[in-house]
Amino acid sequence: MDLPIRPRRLRASPALRALVRETTLSAGDFILPLFVSEKITAPVAVASMPGVFQFTEKALVEEAAGAFADGVPAVLLFGIPAHKDEQATQAYADDGVVQRAVRTLKKTVPELLIITDVCLCEFMSHGHCGVTTFDGDHARIANDASVELLAKTAVSHARAGADIVAPSDMMDGRIGALRRALDTAGFTDTPILSYAAKFASAFYGPFRDAAESAPTAGDRRTYQMDPANACEALREVALDIAEGADLVMVKPGLPYLDLVWRIKERFGLPTAAYHVSGEYAMLKTAAERGWLDEKACVLEQMLAFKRAGADLILTYYARQLALWLRG
Ligand code: PBG
Repeated sequence: MDLPIRPRRLRASPALRALVRETTLSAGDFILPLFVSEKITAPVAVASMPGVFQFTEKALVEEAAGAFADGVPAVLLFGIPAHKDEQATQAYADDGVVQRAVRTLKKTVPELLIITDVCLCEFMSHGHCGVTTFDGDHARIANDASVELLAKTAVSHARAGADIVAPSDMMDGRIGALRRALDTAGFTDTPILSYAAKFASAFYGPFRDAAESAPTAGDRRTYQMDPANACEALREVALDIAEGADLVMVKPGLPYLDLVWRIKERFGLPTAAYHVSGEYAMLKTAAERGWLDEKACVLEQMLAFKRAGADLILTYYARQLALWLRG
């Protein structure tokens, strides 16, 4: 055959394939989400997320230090408080579960980057991400009152020593409000990682077991985005950037790679993708049953995130990935 162009020439050996590889993974790409609970005295395994635990503060520090030693540069903290109410008071309490954990982590592992999830759902008795009243099964969210509490929460995290705050609530105007509140409190250098395009996804199911944050009534569709919408996601990201977001996130991950690509192309900001609890659970379950090669599939998924343009990947596999990538 007279074929001048033969793409297979560059696939002929591992060395040639390595030479022309466009995307690579390293431990520094990953952020490890961790759960700290003040309700427990020993780590509790999360049934729907094999290998993931709710940690005591002490166990959290050990896990975070271990992950850092393995090469993971950053963690994302979620807190589970002993007390919940309708104003989420423990979200912004100076001695709240997240604030105390941040202080201890900063003292013990000072070089580890600490990102705090800024949301109210774990701290609200009804599990919604904002101040809520109920009309039967319909949750009515008071947007601006919620934003005030979120801003207080972000400032209390920064005061405790958080390196980056990551609002995940999807209220309107929260990024601008957080930026102003942080600046006023003197935290002009604390970056905001916005969960900018966050969808009302069924893939968060296992997380809500881990964080004990499932809504008691109603759902999150009046604040999180409709999975059918992409242009709206671009508008959300544009707004968050205009309001002062330093990094933006797409969530969930794999089913939304089209948006990772479009957002990175259009805005060029550091862009994160969240490989969420349901995505993790699917891989774990199939791997446990022997139906998938776990390591190969996880590495392939992570490559897909990076190929789509993600600079950072939040994944419960972060520590495991750091070990795999070490060889
Ligand atoms: C809090 C929050 C959620 C997740 C991250 N931050 C849950 C939700 O919005 O219901 C989900 C993360 C995951 O599924 O791994 N608002």
